[in-house]
Amino acid sequence: MSDSAVVDSPKFELAPYKSLSNDELVARIDAVRGVLGSKLLILGHHYQQDEVVARADLRGDSYQLSQLAASSSDCRYIVFCGVHFMAETADILANRPEKLAERQGVRVPVYLPDMAAGCSMADMAEIDQVEAAWADLGEVIDTEEITPVTYINSAASLKAFCGRHGGIVCTSSNAAAVLDWAFARTRRVLFFPDQHLGRNTALKMGITNAQMPVWDPLADEFGGNSTESLQASRVVLWKGHCSVHQMFTAAHVHQFRERTPGIKILVHPECPQEVNDLADVSGSTGKIIQTVEAAPAGTKWAIGTELHLVNRLKSEHPEQEIHFLSPVVCMCATMYRIDLAHLCWTLENLQAGTPVNRIEVDEETARWSLIALQRMLEVK
Ligand code: 13P
Ligand code: SF4
Repeated sequence: MSDSAVVDSPKFELAPYKSLSNDELVARIDAVRGVLGSKLLILGHHYQQDEVVARADLRGDSYQLSQLAASSSDCRYIVFCGVHFMAETADILANRPEKLAERQGVRVPVYLPDMAAGCSMADMAEIDQVEAAWADLGEVIDTEEITPVTYINSAASLKAFCGRHGGIVCTSSNAAAVLDWAFARTRRVLFFPDQHLGRNTALKMGITNAQMPVWDPLADEFGGNSTESLQASRVVLWKGHCSVHQMFTAAHVHQFRERTPGIKILVHPECPQEVNDLADVSGSTGKIIQTVEAAPAGTKWAIGTELHLVNRLKSEHPEQEIHFLSPVVCMCATMYRIDLAHLCWTLENLQAGTPVNRIEVDEETARWSLIALQRMLEVK
């Protein structure tokens, strides 16, 4: 068995795995799981393909997965079936100082089966842009009055920025509690990278759109805002979005309500305001699942979130009538990159002592990110 450093030449190349059948891949994945036992923890986000989720030891939404990574004690290797920012978060939490002390300094390496599994929303806010925005905001508002809040869908460098500046991380399941935390400290929030989660959450707290200017990092001056609107702001929203959830529209909601009386609309808060305002329930992927699980047989739903999750809910709940809210396919193309072939390739190289695709956050970034993540984990 290996130490965890990624090697230049893995024992196994990826290409041959792509021509194996799913049955063979499943058997080989399970063989590695059998050998490594509880030393190996495979985490799977709800948006993963069914066959990948079925091989995960634990599945969850972003918040649940970060809690699982934070509490893991037996495991010595984490393989993260999700996207890049999730694996970074797992690396930071699983290797925080108290966990390292428990393990006499031994790190738990985190692997992402496909390094191209990023998040297009996270890529919409780069650290240089956020730092430039902070400096620009400081010309018109006292930045001591602003709490930076980053959605967990962001690079570790942005979480570290929040850690350094009295800020915090949020997920879609705790955004309201995190904004309460922030407003107990400062009058204003800079929220990045998802404008929709920020807006939908703040609107429910009574903050108006007029108090939420949108900061466009590509605009010439002040993110495209007047100094007056920034001075009147409560939440400055970063101009980022999820290309999957932004596809859902109010017209989709109206069509379903006309066609199917009594149907309930259940959406993720990354959907635009027009969709959230019309929805019966809005919540994280975890809340979407719990809502369907708790509903009586015969309930009709149109669900606005990633396609793999909606299809899984459909097959797991035949007693309910479940539809995908959009007539066109909206799936997360980067989550989809993780398939059985990449998972098997990652596991067999790990077992062979030639690990691939390790995600490791540098010490300084991890230290500051952890501060912002711990603030989040402590928010009730
Ligand atoms: P959750 O926080 O609901 O898991 O969502 C993560 C995500 O990427 C949604 O697009
Ligand atoms: Fe990112 Fe959207 Fe994919 Fe979630 S669904 S990982 S926000 S691109």
